[in-house]
Amino acid sequence: MLLLAVMTIGVVAGAIVLFMISGDLARRIGISPGGRALLSAGLGTGVIAVCIKIFIAGTLIVAMKDHDHAPPQPVSARLQSMPDGYLDSSFTGRWHALPASAPTPDGKATSQEVIRLGRRLFNEPALSADGKVSCASCHVLAEGGDDNAPNSTGIKGLRGSRNAPTVWNAAFLSRLFWDGRVSSLEDQAMGPLVNPVEMGMPSHEAVEATLRAMPAYVEVFERAFGSPETITIENIVHAIASYERTLIAPDTAYDRFVRGDTGALNARQIRGMALFAGLGCRSCHRDPTFSAAGQIRPAGVRKPFPVFPDAAFVARYDLLADRGTARAGRAIGLWRVPSLRNVANTAPYFHNGSVDSLEEAVRVMAATQLGRLVAADRDDGAPEIAWNPKTRTVTPYYPSELTEVDVAALATFLESLSVPAVTGGPEGAEPAF
Ligand code: HEC
Ligand code: HEC
Repeated sequence: MLLLAVMTIGVVAGAIVLFMISGDLARRIGISPGGRALLSAGLGTGVIAVCIKIFIAGTLIVAMKDHDHAPPQPVSARLQSMPDGYLDSSFTGRWHALPASAPTPDGKATSQEVIRLGRRLFNEPALSADGKVSCASCHVLAEGGDDNAPNSTGIKGLRGSRNAPTVWNAAFLSRLFWDGRVSSLEDQAMGPLVNPVEMGMPSHEAVEATLRAMPAYVEVFERAFGSPETITIENIVHAIASYERTLIAPDTAYDRFVRGDTGALNARQIRGMALFAGLGCRSCHRDPTFSAAGQIRPAGVRKPFPVFPDAAFVARYDLLADRGTARAGRAIGLWRVPSLRNVANTAPYFHNGSVDSLEEAVRVMAATQLGRLVAADRDDGAPEIAWNPKTRTVTPYYPSELTEVDVAALATFLESLSVPAVTGGPEGAEPAF
């Protein structure tokens, strides 16, 4: 529409200029009839050329925008259409281990006093309207950082519609919530305190007032921030976020494997890793966070889901009732690609918590994101898959039909991204004051 309008304005403006030149104006400044014809021909061509350029540029911009929303071509198809031996390094290249510490907003270390205060606030039920719900009620560190329920229970037994993601390793993500609507842990923590079905406080001022009325906190804030007047919502969320930045679980079997311990993954997990690369899971779930919103090696944060709306899965798991940040009228949802770290500890899966097992989540992903149904029931074994510890690369494996053995291999590879038993932050799961 905009394009047509620009074209029309261009043509009308051109016509007016031509009219003026060939008419009165030219006669008045005394250009001869021959010169007039030449001038109008020259200017006319110029105007037409500008219009054509605007049109081409506009068409290109529109095409690029459409491309953003178009379902990605399955990587397996892209791989098969590539010349032998050529593989795109964005999803087959070097694998990355998770760093042991997360970046801070100002790049500086946070004081232990602030972290300890954050830990206490994270576990503080007084920050909820009924005095019973804290961040830790829904993000149980020892249970994998979530509540293992399809959706969470907040004050007065009220329930939201989305599944609670883990807080473990959230500090590495540049976009938070299922739909990626906030971009820092500080901004994130503002939400649940006043969310009517979570902690239900009437306002952030009420949160400040509650803490100011608790003498123990006045003292702790003074220690952490230097004065008793520092009980502000900004400092409250900063302390909580600082604590969350210590909730890192880096030493998984996968991390040890890519750092050089070649015995850390078994043959089936390495097959899963080769499938994860070959099928194209890795183009959205980027290591080391296995999210597209990782601050290290990010990809496009949000992706359509389900890209291939497999009717059976969509109906069984109600995958289209909530469409994330998709614009009104769009047929499929748009979601932040979540991290798969600790995914073995955070069932049930997806934004609505509708899928109970990791194997089924893998089947749903293969079908809805890559157009691959688990078709073959016999398994002829994978070809030889090599891990090169020097380049940290694996032979990508992309069978034309997935088998249940492939699904199990992918699921057990995902288990290797999880720590077996998460016992709590640096000082254990319970707050120690
Ligand atoms: C009643 C349960 C409940 C409470 C209480 C709660 N959360 Fe959550 N949390 C959730 C749910 C559900 C989501 C996902 C919501 C969404 O995406 O729309 C979430 C999302 C998050 C995320 C984003 C993780 C990611 O990968 O995007 C973080 C971080 C988080 N919560 C931290 C906190 C903190 C800090 C508090 C306390 C101030 C808190 N939560 C209180 C249920 C809860
Ligand atoms: C086109 C991008 C894309 C591709 C390719 C992709 N995923 Fe996903 N994945 C997503 C998105 C987006 C979600 C979140 C869906 C939602 O809203 O519930 C997700 C969710 C998941 C979950 C659930 C996580 C949780 O905490 O609930 C698992 C497990 C998963 N993907 C594994 C895989 C595997 C295995 C593959 C390859 C077979 C794969 N994904 C391919 C984008 C992708």
